[in-house]
Amino acid sequence: MSCSSSNMHEKDDAMNKADSLLNLMTLDEKIGQMTQICFSTITLDGTKNLELHPDSIRKAIVHYNVGSFLSGTGSARNWLDFISEMQQIALHETRLGIPLLIGVDHIHGANYIDEGTFFPHHLTISCSFDTSLVKQYARITAIETSSVGISWNFAPVLDVGINPYWPRYYETFGEDPMVCSMLGAAYIESYQNTCRDNSMKLTACGKHFIGYSDTKSGWDRTPAEIPWQKLYEFHVPPFENAIKAGVKTMMANSGEVNGQPVHSSRELLTGLLQNKLNFEGVLVTDIKDIQKIVEIHAGAQNEKEATLLSVNAGIDMSMACNSFDFIKYLKELVKEGKISEERINLSVKKILRLKYDLGLFENAYAEEQSLEMIGTSEHRKFARKVAEESVVLLKNEGILPMDPYRQKILLTGFAAHSKKMMNGAWTLEWEGAEEKRQPGNMPTLTEALEEKMADGHFHYIPVPEPGDEALIKSFNARAKSSDVILLTLGEKPYSEFKGNITNLKIDPQHEWLFNLAKSTGKPVIVLLIEGRPRLINDINRNCDALLFVGYPGISGARALANILFGEVNPSGKLSFTYPASANHCTPYYRKHSEKYTPLYPFGHGLSYTSYKYSNLKLSDSIIHGDKQNMAVSFNLTNTGEKPGKEVVLIYIQDEVGKITRPVRKLAFFRKVDLQPGETKELTFMIEPVKNLSYPDESGNKILEGGYFRIIVNDLERRFYLDY
Ligand code: GLC
Repeated sequence: MSCSSSNMHEKDDAMNKADSLLNLMTLDEKIGQMTQICFSTITLDGTKNLELHPDSIRKAIVHYNVGSFLSGTGSARNWLDFISEMQQIALHETRLGIPLLIGVDHIHGANYIDEGTFFPHHLTISCSFDTSLVKQYARITAIETSSVGISWNFAPVLDVGINPYWPRYYETFGEDPMVCSMLGAAYIESYQNTCRDNSMKLTACGKHFIGYSDTKSGWDRTPAEIPWQKLYEFHVPPFENAIKAGVKTMMANSGEVNGQPVHSSRELLTGLLQNKLNFEGVLVTDIKDIQKIVEIHAGAQNEKEATLLSVNAGIDMSMACNSFDFIKYLKELVKEGKISEERINLSVKKILRLKYDLGLFENAYAEEQSLEMIGTSEHRKFARKVAEESVVLLKNEGILPMDPYRQKILLTGFAAHSKKMMNGAWTLEWEGAEEKRQPGNMPTLTEALEEKMADGHFHYIPVPEPGDEALIKSFNARAKSSDVILLTLGEKPYSEFKGNITNLKIDPQHEWLFNLAKSTGKPVIVLLIEGRPRLINDINRNCDALLFVGYPGISGARALANILFGEVNPSGKLSFTYPASANHCTPYYRKHSEKYTPLYPFGHGLSYTSYKYSNLKLSDSIIHGDKQNMAVSFNLTNTGEKPGKEVVLIYIQDEVGKITRPVRKLAFFRKVDLQPGETKELTFMIEPVKNLSYPDESGNKILEGGYFRIIVNDLERRFYLDY
């Protein structure tokens, strides 16, 4: 079975096979294929733990013909046995023996497999601005995920990080639509094209279509009001690019957009996603989201009506999770003639075609020996490299890098000696497993620093709390004999609505701890372990160094140690705006009538070396028509003493637009390696339609003649489009 994603011949073959099988199926069997049930409904203890309930599993597969399951947690061995047993039942105890599609949220590596490699979360990774890094990370995740028999990964999140309050901000690739598009497509292409001989093929899942991140309140699953022009310019690109990259499945947005629950919006799920963007894959609901049309959005009288609305809107599979009511209601709706069997056939054909395309009919089982591919030291090393390339040095008053042999460090903070805080949520449990369940052979920050420093040069103290006089006394005493105080501040991991907040400011307890450290008179370095940019103005003003870390994953502690001691030169840049005020969080692509008032702007990031941009040239000062491309070139020099990697960001400003234009928008990014003193000439090609047009409210590209500017660091050049 070839590993590359299906070519046209294979696609037709899968379609023909799906057609033939469809003709043999009863209505019950068809509706069962459109149903996805959570593991917790079929396990012995009713949780994600991988122990099958022999009756529950047969009730789902044999009685209800369920064709897909999701969400478990456990060891690789347990996963392999659990899925193999399920497939056995589907293949040998049902009339047609249709294999199962098993799904999981491996959103930052194989994060529900005990031995898996847990990478930094995507907001951190996006600060690397490195598509090749994302491709290799996706490949490792694919190898580890498929090794236990899971063929469907509900990743990547393609939502753009619009509202910094949003509790899923850390799951996004940041605030820029083009960065989200490029990194999302890189992930999908790599994930879906990775497999080894005899292993199954894999599908990613673009989520959550569409507008999920643009909630007015910043709270999860609350209303978004998005004008269609803004939807096309800032929300559609990552999904459009994912479809071009061949994404085989999509998941709908649980929220509501412009007054309509997305799960019941035919305009969005069929009109936009399928007809306008030509998505032909499987569209799955988010969890229990047909029920949520009633329970959360009050968008239908009852679940049967919600089922009618959602199927008519265009969903193919219901992530019903712990209820078989979807099956009951959908069958009634067909019997009542409210939904035609042709409509059912449309979805079932897509699902069967996907299963054929993934090779599940040829082989639904993972290979025993593939377990050794999980959590290897090479994978761990690469997870460290990803974190090293992603951490952003925001401020450095000459105190970094430190010397582990000369300087003495005192470390404290909520993440200082915690694996859970480094891995973040969606790690073995929804909100991140407790410490004892976290990987045994994973160093905490305390351990990673201790192993690098001279004896007696490092001390860790548990987080002192206000009123804890003994610990405060011990902290102050230890500080006296230390040269530097290192703090981990930010926010503890959370998932979805559990992370809703009413105040973006960092928790007072973290400010108190910072002020305690500052009162010692010693320099203070702050590591921000957080899922979104919590407000830290005073901390920023008074600290001596500040790094945005996010949730850096299983090798994050070693990555931080390498950066703090200068073995790695930090190269991350903010893929989002770090706001200074909760009430004024404009993105960098704001309009001319707005002001940009960040604490740290999009694209900010310091290095232990310095760079110089020079000699910005355009191949023409005028572009004639929409077919002539224009080359942009400039020199980049490492003017410091250390090797480094510079994220190059090329912006374009459209000076005047019928629809007002952002003061600048990112057009290209690239990460460049430079030795001390080395100069490289970089060239980028401007294509008028691709790089100078923008969508109107119907998604049609508008290209207007007039003046544009190319902006590269502190250089800019103006040119004219004659069109
Ligand atoms: C969750 C999330 C979605 C996830 C799904 C399955 O509610 O919204 O991102 O893939 O359910 O766990």
